[in-house]
Order: sequence, then C-alpha cells, then structure tokens
Amino acid sequence: MNSPSPQRFLTGITTTGTPHLGNYVGSIRPSVAASKGAGAESFYFLADYHALIKCDEPARIQRSTLEIAASWLAAGLDPERVTFYRQSDIPEIPELTWLLTCVTGKGVLNRAHAYKASVDKNESAGNDPDADVTAGLFMYPVLMGADILMFRATQVPVGRDQIQHIEMARDMAQRFNHLYGDRLVLPEALIEESVATLPGLDGRKMSKSYDNTIPLFASREELKKLIAGIVTDSRAPGEAKDVQGSALFQIYQAFASADETVAMRQAYADGIGWGDAKAKLFERIDQDIAPMREAYKELLGNPEKIEAILQAGAHKARRMATPLMRELREAVGLRRLAAPAAPVAKSKPTKTSLPSFKQYRETDGQFYFKLLAADGRLLLQSHGFALPKDAALAIAALRQDGASALKGLGGKLQTPDDVQMDEVANALQQLGDAY
Ligand code: TRP
Repeated sequence: MNSPSPQRFLTGITTTGTPHLGNYVGSIRPSVAASKGAGAESFYFLADYHALIKCDEPARIQRSTLEIAASWLAAGLDPERVTFYRQSDIPEIPELTWLLTCVTGKGVLNRAHAYKASVDKNESAGNDPDADVTAGLFMYPVLMGADILMFRATQVPVGRDQIQHIEMARDMAQRFNHLYGDRLVLPEALIEESVATLPGLDGRKMSKSYDNTIPLFASREELKKLIAGIVTDSRAPGEAKDVQGSALFQIYQAFASADETVAMRQAYADGIGWGDAKAKLFERIDQDIAPMREAYKELLGNPEKIEAILQAGAHKARRMATPLMRELREAVGLRRLAAPAAPVAKSKPTKTSLPSFKQYRETDGQFYFKLLAADGRLLLQSHGFALPKDAALAIAALRQDGASALKGLGGKLQTPDDVQMDEVANALQQLGDAY
C-alpha cells in the first residue's frame, strides 16, 4: 500500500431508533473501552445515509442522529482521541461509492443477504422478486464499502450478520487495486466473540424488531417499570432458582463484576424472590447508567454542542478523505485536461478482464467449457458433454451457486495442479453477475 497503515478500527452506527441496553453492552461499551486503549486509531460514525435506506421520516432520522450521538458521547467516547463524525458530512463517501459501484459485479450484490432476504420474501409471497426493493437496499454494501475503504480501516468490529459486507469491501478494494494500482487497504472483520448478546424483556435477544428493549437512557422510574416486566418463571420466594436461561440473571451479569455475579448466583440458589432480584438488577444497572444519563440529558438539551463536535469530526475525517479521493480520481482518469496525460499503460489489465467462461465444441463432437482467470490462465476444465444444454446448465450452476456447485459437478471438472481452489472460488464469486 501507499503508506503502511497502523491498526485502524472503524464502526458505523445506522441512525434509526434509540439506543437500548443491548446496543450499550454489545457495541457502545466495548467500543468506548477500546477507544481508550493505547495505540489504536478509531473511527466512529453515524451512518445516516444508510438510515435513509430503512427510514423515510426526516424527523426520525434527525432525532435518531441526535440521540445516538448523545449516547456515545455520554457513554464516554472522547472525540479528541477518536474521529467521530456523521457520514453525510463527508461528500467523498458518496463519491467513492460511485467509483466502487463501477468495479463491483452486479451478481455479487445479488447475493448480499439483506437484498436476498427481501427477494426471497417476495418470491415466497408470489410477488415480483423486486417488489418494494429500492436500489438503495441493493447498493447498501457498496456504500458500506466506501465507508470502510475511505479511511483505510484495517479492522471493522461487526456482528456476524455483517461479515459478508466486510468481505465484499475487501473484494471491491482488491478489484480496484488490480485495475488502478495499489491504493486501497483491505479491511478485516473483527468478530467480538466475547461480547454477550443481551436478552430482552421476553428472553429473546434484545432487539427493536422484537419490541422487547430497555432504552439505554430510560428514566429511573421507567427503568424500574421495564425491569419489573422481565419474564421469570413462577417459582416462589424461598425456592431455589435456575440461573440457566434466566434473562434477569444474564442482564445482571452483563453489568456486574465477577464477585457480584457469584453473589447473585448464590442468591438464586438460596431462593431469592423475583421481586428482590429485580430490585437488585435495577440498582446495579442504574449505578452504571445514572451518571451517563445526566450527561445525556445535558447533551440533548444542547444539540448545537453535538453539532459542533460532529463538524470538528468531519473536518478531521476530511483531512484524510479529501487527499485520498483526489488520488483516486486521478487514478481512474478523472483528470484536468490541461495536465499532462499520463502514458496509457500497455500491459495494464483492462476493465473487461474479469474471469470468464468459454464454451466450445471439440472435434470429438462433444461440448466443453472452461473457466479462465482474468489474466487468461486456466482455472477449470470440463469433460465433454453430449448436449450443449448440459454444458450450459453446469455453467449456470457455477455462476449461481459459486464454489458450492463444484461438489455436484466434481466428476465433470478438473483443476490444473498449480491452481488453488480459493482462486477458483473467488473467480466464481466475481462472476455471479448473470444472476
Ligand atoms: N451496516 C452496519 C449496521 O447495520 C452499519 C454500517 C454502515 C457500518 N457502514 C459501516 C458498520 C461501516 C461498519 C463499517 O450495523
């Protein structure tokens, strides 16, 4: 790469909704803790362009941006130590999105989970596959790729559901670098195994879509009331209780020290009444949240303070984004005409150099195909098919299902000894474009 990058963490938070305790335990608290560690450089941003994909209520977008920014700041994020900004303040991000759009196979996006889930839902309901699907949803991974690649992030802490997006961002960077020279850093997903998912009021994962959340900055009274509503079994005070499967215990554990957890475990065994256990949980959570709640209230009452912090963050972020975008524009040929034109490289790979399938008929009368890498090397060679249709079906299966189709076709395909299966799988991935 141009300059060796230090470890650089980057996380986006989509600005729909109000943060709840699950977001705090799973994302805000570990991120703030990590940002205080030495050495690492961190980028946190409010993904408000992403929010537009899900939400068409302007007032909600604005409110949520305010609440999420205030939550992170109240939880201790220090905008002096990290780069904290709002996505839509960085015009280079949509600009980079377009450059990446032009190097991303449409077929790759067809396979993105969120888009595919919508299509599958439509199909099983007998609707047009793309009914009510916006191009925004389809392009979601490219915008996310731009978020990440714009700042040369090396680690992106995400939940499992986002791994695919990080892999797509890697692919975009790789493809861009292949065409235009080494310019973008390949990011890695950082999966935080140790971070607990918090159960909600009903015992399922705490999530807005289950309507089982406890807002992070609920008032004391509200917090008490919500905690009273956590599901428990019907065991009476004095009866021993199970910590296993107890949402109340798990939430307690997410806030308590190891010693406190041991004590609560003992209290369960000793038959603590649910009312008492809930009172203990309430006090334990409130102990952590109360000071932040004050800071949060104060920030919400002074939106201009948050705005100033975000403007300063955008300024800092653009000090990186602007020069990189200038370099990338130059690299792809968006240049001033008066400037001396760079020589057109002869051996440079061209746009059309994607991997490709070639179908042909041999003198034995049978139909064959092969898969060639972008540079023309042979990756897969088929045996003969009596009918052209069967060769075409095999190709279709490979395009549609990628490497997972190889098993079913095993007997009919050969890979040269010097070719790694990874390379075949990558080539097929790039080629999903027909579907
Ligand atoms: N897609 C992420 C989510 O829903 C939010 C996001 C947008 C993001 N851009 C990002 C996360 C870049 C990490 C990096 O949670």
